[in-house]
Amino acid sequence: MTQALSVLDKKLGGLNPRTAIVLGSGLGSLSGELRDPVRVSYADLEGFPHSGVSGHAAEVVAGHMGETPVIMLSGRAHYYEKGDASAMRLPLETLHGLGVQKLILTNAAGSLRKEMPPGSVMRISDHINYAGANPLIGEPGDRRFVGLTNAYDVEMADQMDAAAREVGIDLFSGVYMWFSGPSFETPAEIKMAGMMGADAVGMSTVPEVILARFLGLRVAAASVVTNFAAGMSGDEISHEETKQMAPLGGERLASILRHMLSG
Ligand code: HPA
Repeated sequence: MTQALSVLDKKLGGLNPRTAIVLGSGLGSLSGELRDPVRVSYADLEGFPHSGVSGHAAEVVAGHMGETPVIMLSGRAHYYEKGDASAMRLPLETLHGLGVQKLILTNAAGSLRKEMPPGSVMRISDHINYAGANPLIGEPGDRRFVGLTNAYDVEMADQMDAAAREVGIDLFSGVYMWFSGPSFETPAEIKMAGMMGADAVGMSTVPEVILARFLGLRVAAASVVTNFAAGMSGDEISHEETKQMAPLGGERLASILRHMLSG
């Protein structure tokens, strides 16, 4: 057993969460809503990332949302930090080791759809790995050949859609295209992304989906739209803007997840 798994296993006591959420930009406050929370800093968990991205915390928070025990990763490592697509492998393996079966991934993204403005929430129905990196490169054995035809769990997607309907929030669904970052895209790249079938673009989540499917976790994912993608509005895109805009859609996604989990 790794140090991280042993520390969390002890701290969680009898909690046994089966669902985990990775909190992206704008969703950090959701961890504050857990009842009787147990908090462990990534700094106390060997192999957890020391994320240097402002707007991202770095802790594990577990507790109850309604009647459901949930564990949240507040803060993630991104491929663009060190060029390591497998940076989230140990945290996800740790969740798996704790008995987690369902993983909900969240992120901030740029929208390619005019009718999906900043503040919107998009359930990720599928992805395009345009960064071309893969967290399973170097993994020995045949288990590395992970199928991604059904990467996004249909039942979890239906539950998310139903929760959105019930709380009266428009939930778009679409294809998320992973760019490595950290620079934002050019207008020409966004035009290409649209032709290739992308509805939103971002710099995270896809490696986590691949790792989660490798581990056998069921996956759902959603993006909070913080901006129109490059070239769509004429404005320059900045991290400042994405941080400022994330809470708007973040609050909407939080309502959906609250309902999805406590229901
Ligand atoms: N591009 C890439 N990542 C992002 C964007 C974007 O426009 N907005 C938020 N994250």
